[in-house]
Amino acid sequence: MSRKKIDRKDVREELLPGASVQLMKELHLLTRDGDLNADARRKLKQINHLIGRLRPALDDVLARYPDPIIIDAGAGNGYLGFLIVELILKPAGRGLLYAVESRPDLVNRARERAQRLGLGARLKVVGAELEHSELPERAHLVVALHACDTATDDALVIALEKNADHVAVVPCCQAEVAEQLRLHPPEAPGMAALAQHAWHRRELGSHLTNVIRALVLESKGYKVTVTELVGLEHSLKNELILGKRVQRFDARAEQALSELLAATGVEPKLVRILKSSDASTAET
Ligand SMILES: C[S@@+](CC[C@H](N)C(=O)[O-])C[C@H]1O[C@@H](n2cnc3c(N)ncnc32)[C@H](O)[C@@H]1O
Repeated sequence: MSRKKIDRKDVREELLPGASVQLMKELHLLTRDGDLNADARRKLKQINHLIGRLRPALDDVLARYPDPIIIDAGAGNGYLGFLIVELILKPAGRGLLYAVESRPDLVNRARERAQRLGLGARLKVVGAELEHSELPERAHLVVALHACDTATDDALVIALEKNADHVAVVPCCQAEVAEQLRLHPPEAPGMAALAQHAWHRRELGSHLTNVIRALVLESKGYKVTVTELVGLEHSLKNELILGKRVQRFDARAEQALSELLAATGVEPKLVRILKSSDASTAET
């Protein structure tokens, strides 16, 4: 991968207004000398685009709630969360972002960084698997940028459980459904060929997973848009699924979801979790 440096003038153009050079250096998006290499530039493009796409949701939750709660699921180095806090929550003087990450080294580094940058009051780093994380009862916006494989499903479950007003996920690599297609190719007439080759199973598995995620959100009352995040030259994992809660549920989407699951025979983690939580609600 190229490590070509970018001109200083271009470096300034890559930073969002309000993003400090100190934070960029802390996040290793800029070098100690304030330079930007090609890898960091690619990452910065994704984050900047995502923050742009999240603006309406961020403005909405700030307008509607005195202290909006945002969850960054699978936060990694925390690029996205730190920028949301520096650019939006800190200037607003309101709101709290929970960055959830399972790797202890990244958790410790993010906590130290938040303290050093004086952002600790608006950014809490939660060291846990998403499935077992302790988070507030209610969240207003849930984001997950490249949360690996089924971690995106865990993020969506959190959004649904916390009754989030907005959700935004950019899924990462996906293996789960491709493996289900290998073990049980779709049985509907003519469909088996779709899953015959490993490459096609991976592509179909990834596409099906994201279609199912979008339908689940719609069935739970979210208005969903699916778009490209940045140009493919900046990231191959590029699908942005945005959801805004507009109603309690959508029977048409629920029907489309169950037909798709029946036709393909797949059952991604998101569907399994929702099924088991529906079953336990029915028992009580
Ligand atoms: C590809 S990285 C993306 C990090 C960050 N969102 C970004 O875009 O820079 C995915 C991160 O999710 C974390 N992760 C994966 N599964 C997780 C889970 N179940 N719970 C919490 N964190 C998880 C990984 O440790 C990793 O740091």
